[in-house]
Amino acid sequence: MNMNLQAPGMSELQDRIDKLDLSRLPRHVAMIMDGNGRWANAKGLDRSVGHYEGVKSVRRATELSSDLGIDYLTLYAFSTENWNRPQKEVDILMHLIGMAIEQETPDLVKNNVHLRLIGDIERMPKEAWDRLHACELATAHCDGLTLTLALSYSGRRELTRVARLIAEEVAAGKLNPADITEQTLAAHLFTHDMPDPDLLIRTGGEERISNYLLWQTAYSELYFTPVLWPDFEKAAYLDALIDYQRRERRFGKTGAQIKETLNTTES
Ligand code: IPE
Ligand code: IPE
Ligand code: MG
Repeated sequence: MNMNLQAPGMSELQDRIDKLDLSRLPRHVAMIMDGNGRWANAKGLDRSVGHYEGVKSVRRATELSSDLGIDYLTLYAFSTENWNRPQKEVDILMHLIGMAIEQETPDLVKNNVHLRLIGDIERMPKEAWDRLHACELATAHCDGLTLTLALSYSGRRELTRVARLIAEEVAAGKLNPADITEQTLAAHLFTHDMPDPDLLIRTGGEERISNYLLWQTAYSELYFTPVLWPDFEKAAYLDALIDYQRRERRFGKTGAQIKETLNTTES
């Protein structure tokens, strides 16, 4: 893939793109966008400035995913636990999420990006919810990158919801408990029609999952970087993709078995 090499900083991007095998990119990348508050505090600024600056990283990650032809990008934007932050910060985040989505909608449509939402979306304040819903509708026909925002999201709550939905089907006599399989559970997830994330990136230096996509990340490759989310440039994203491609995904098998499968599919 060739990018416009005249633009500043482009040659360092092209160098990285050249290192990538574009036929082996992850289909689904999930990200935990962490470090906005610390980014702002380090500069003596209010935490909210970090959140504002973080929107630019969202735009960069979306643009690069779309340009590379990655099918799914799923961003953790607000966790159920984040409702426990000071009310002022919660209000700012809710306002910012709504505003940013409204502003980005024309570009998302132009770039053929389809916006989806997962989480307890009904908990979002009406102002933000209306803007998010308008963007969902405006991008519903787009069939390029699927950009999913996890909002008021908790992996445990998602799984609890799955248990409730299945229990209702059993109680209604539509499902026999003996027939419940992994596929039954997966079919009731918010992400039921997406592949599981191949790669999970967390910025901000913490090395934890923080209740994100607990079922779906069972076999994801994990990539932790100390880079704070507002500093997460395209080059840093490409570094994560290069690192991902160096790994051998064994899914419980041995390295020799994986090499054998690769040889048979290649020949
Ligand atoms: C991530 O940055 C954004 C959200 C969780 C909404 P933080 O706000 O968690 O930033 P740090 O971790 O305090 O630096
Ligand atoms: C995780 O970040 C949630 C989001 C990025 C939206 P946090 O900053 O809330 O995570 P913890 O609480 O430090 O684990
Ligand atoms: Mg944090």
